[in-house]
Order: sequence, then structure tokens, then C-alpha cells
Amino acid sequence: MTTLIAFSGSLRKDSFNTRVLRALPALAPEGTQIALFDIADLPMYNQDLDGETVPEIVAALRAAIAEADGVIIAGPEYSGSYSGATKNLIDWASRPFMAGPIIGKTSMVIATTPGPGGGKNVLPATAGLLQALGGKVVAQVGAAAIHEKIAADSDTIIDEEFAQQLREGLAAF
Ligand SMILES: Cc1cc2nc3c(=O)[nH]c(=O)nc-3n(C[C@H](O)[C@H](O)[C@H](O)COP(=O)(O)O)c2cc1C
Repeated sequence: MTTLIAFSGSLRKDSFNTRVLRALPALAPEGTQIALFDIADLPMYNQDLDGETVPEIVAALRAAIAEADGVIIAGPEYSGSYSGATKNLIDWASRPFMAGPIIGKTSMVIATTPGPGGGKNVLPATAGLLQALGGKVVAQVGAAAIHEKIAADSDTIIDEEFAQQLREGLAAF
């Protein structure tokens, strides 16, 4: 059994990146479980909040990552890089100092855009953050024109090439 914890770096309700995460269980190898962790209520990282006790959602985030075999981050490209939400979750998960649960974690990075960019900047930027924390990034999967690659009325990938890249990424954990 492989357990993966997934985060979307977009907080908007109809986020394509969140919808791609919801499509993943259908593409995962048998025996792989994927849980989506909602970070909409995660506070902005503040070292004053990161003491002996931490906000409940931070404790839950750290526990979920610690218990998982790997992490998936699907993020939008904002201003040529990762969103604040993506960086914020990584900052919280990088602590306590030298013992943050994301340190050394195996991960996969996904980025999708409706435009032609396809996340070409945010993929290596996010992977670079995870690698700087000692993690192995098993796959970086991007997609442009995502509105044409996911079904309009369900969270199903309808572009076979993109679906196959996601399958291969999930199989690499
Ligand atoms: C603040 C902001 C900055 C953006 N910057 C980029 C960018 O640099 N490159 C790009 O391809 N798309 C950019 N976009 C478009 C996003 O890729 C698009 O809105 C995408 O749908 C966001 O992901 P989501 O659907 O998961 O929310 C930007 C959008 C916003 C709101």
C-alpha cells in the first residue's frame, strides 16, 4: 500500500489544479491511495505561531505528510513561479527545524494552465523547493490548455497523453 497526500496551490473553488488532483485516484496504480488535504485555512507562516503548540490545521498538515509515503503538489503558475499558497504549505511543512515532515520526502509536482504556458516555470521552481529540502521529485507533469484536457462536467482527464504522464508519475513513487 502506498499512501500519497495531495495539495493544491490554488485556493479557488473551480481550480483546474485541484480538479486534476481529484482525477488522480482513477489513474493511480492498484494499492495507491491519494488523499486531498485542503490548505485554504492554513494561516500565513509566522514563526510566532510556530511554537510548542501550533494551530490545529498546522498539526494536521504535518501529521498527514509525516504519515504519507509521498506528496503531490499541483499548483498554478502565478507571475512566473509558484503561488503563495504552495510556498506557504512548504514553509509550514519544513519545520520544526531539521525535523519538518517534508524534509527528504518523495514528491510529484503537477502544474496546469488554461493558457499556452503549461506551468513550464512553476514546475522546476516547485521541484527546486522540494529538492532544496532534500526530497526526491519523481515526476514533473505539466499541461497547457487544461480546459480541453479535463471533462467539463466531471473530474476526469480526457487527454490520453496527459493521463499517461500522470499515470507514470504516480507509478514512480
Ligand atoms: C495572479 C495570477 C498570476 C498568473 N500568472 C501566470 C503566469 O505567470 N503564467 C501562466 O501561464 N499563467 C498565469 N496565470 C494564469 C493561471 O495559470 C490560471 O489562472 C490558472 O487557471 C490558475 O490555476 P487554477 O485553475 O488551478 O486556479 C496567472 C493567474 C493569476 C490569477
